[in-house]
Amino acid sequence: MSVQSEVRRLTAPDIRARKGGEPIVALTSYHAHTASLVDKYCDVILVGDSLGMVMHGLETTVPVTLDMMILQGHAVMRGSQRALVVVDMPFGSYEASKEQAFMSAARVMKETGCGAVKLEGGRRLAETVAFLAERGVPVMGHVGLTPQAINTIGSFRAQGRDEKDWGRIEDDAKSVSDAGAFSLVIEAVAEPLGRRITGQVPIPTIGIGASAACDGQILVLEDMLGLSPRVPKFVKRYGDLGPGIEAAISGYAKDVRSRAFPGPDHVYGMRKK
Ligand code: KIV
Repeated sequence: MSVQSEVRRLTAPDIRARKGGEPIVALTSYHAHTASLVDKYCDVILVGDSLGMVMHGLETTVPVTLDMMILQGHAVMRGSQRALVVVDMPFGSYEASKEQAFMSAARVMKETGCGAVKLEGGRRLAETVAFLAERGVPVMGHVGLTPQAINTIGSFRAQGRDEKDWGRIEDDAKSVSDAGAFSLVIEAVAEPLGRRITGQVPIPTIGIGASAACDGQILVLEDMLGLSPRVPKFVKRYGDLGPGIEAAISGYAKDVRSRAFPGPDHVYGMRKK
């Protein structure tokens, strides 16, 4: 007999229906325990390929594999109940053809149970987005700064700083939206451009360093908690957990070295928080 969860998980159509409505709250998470905290407050949890840089200390997201995304996607699904979980498709898993994209996305969805995938890119990916959406894969688009393109763009600089580039980014956003994406991340673009795109596309935009006018916002959890060594300038810090964690580790090391480490009581057991 299966036990049904009492909490209904949000779906891609639920998020799609939020265009122009209550702002969408989104954060990244890569683990079951942070996912359970984020789940209480967020509508969308993104298992971002930023995990390569945040969890693994990589310089870019380019080396991240499909297996890494599936492992952490599964953990986030186990830790959450209500939020829509979106898993990033990593570099090399979707660009070669729409068929390759479908096979990779199907693996992600079957093996993690997530509700949607995210792809980086605009017009050049429109056909792929349509192919996936028509076959039951909800797609979140991602335009503006696309970090997987770091080796061709050269740096993680904001996009659309020069107004002459706006047309191309707007065209990317509209192509992905017309192709059937249910929402769109806009990363690191000039504020008026983020605002304009939000007014132009019928799907919710989720900004990261884009514009407060977007239909929702997303941040990398570790960046807003003060746990990442390098953080983009636009990130507002809502916590400064690094020093607290370091103080706890140093207190523990001191206890062990001075033999002040508490031994077990008479009975072993797990202490409740
Ligand atoms: O990988 C990621 O965390 C992302 C967000 C920054 C949007 O794509």
